[in-house]
Amino acid sequence: MRKNIVAGNWKMNKTLQEGLALATELNDLLATTKTNCDVVIGTPFIHLASVAAAVDTTKLGVAAQNCADHVSGAYTGEVSVGMVKSTGAQYVILGHSERRAYYGETSAILKTKVELALAEGLTPIFCIGEVLAEREAGKQFEVVETQIKESLFDLSAADFGKLVLAYEPVWAIGTGKTASAEQAQEIHAYIRGVIKAKYGAEVADNCTILYGGSCNAKNAKELFANPDVDGGLIGGASLKAADFMGVIAGFDVA
Ligand code: 13P
Repeated sequence: MRKNIVAGNWKMNKTLQEGLALATELNDLLATTKTNCDVVIGTPFIHLASVAAAVDTTKLGVAAQNCADHVSGAYTGEVSVGMVKSTGAQYVILGHSERRAYYGETSAILKTKVELALAEGLTPIFCIGEVLAEREAGKQFEVVETQIKESLFDLSAADFGKLVLAYEPVWAIGTGKTASAEQAQEIHAYIRGVIKAKYGAEVADNCTILYGGSCNAKNAKELFANPDVDGGLIGGASLKAADFMGVIAGFDVA
């Protein structure tokens, strides 16, 4: 069954002590809140083990923001899926536009990372999305479809069914410029259609597709109300507990 998920992406923010403080604060708030979504935080690698040990990971999932495209060996500075898994993290964010743009991550590299993550039993949160020039040229559908096909369409239906997708228009990331609820719904429905054409209605219906890009406590409810928007991948608004809880409340809480 399709899940609602609100996932935070801390990016390169917070010292270990600051990260632990935020994770514990969220953990305590979630212990007394009834949510209508799963909640995940994507921390820097070096926070993963401490955060996973400090929180109830059945209520607050933990994600890495990247992983290596090799299993092990002489890759100085890299972190493998096995290492991520051994920290207690359950998810890994892959294909974020910042990784694609600043670190040269191609569809081929991301395909390998997704396959390694799935083989390790981690849930990839796979990001797709167009840049402003592509949106202005009306190419956003083509762009996301190619990103999905190139990295994900060699997966079996069973493996595809384990993924979470995140549509993040690059022009909306960190800009304060959110996609409108209509724009989000339109492209999420398109993405679901692409999945349906390849894997069938059941896999498509069960796929969680998150929206990311200047999503916050003010606009989350309207975005999440769309039938094909199953939650959010949250950057700036995930860095303070109150802000993040406000986004989670976009799915109503008690
Ligand atoms: P902002 O919420 O800061 O726009 O970032 C979105 C994002 O990139 C999450 O991965």
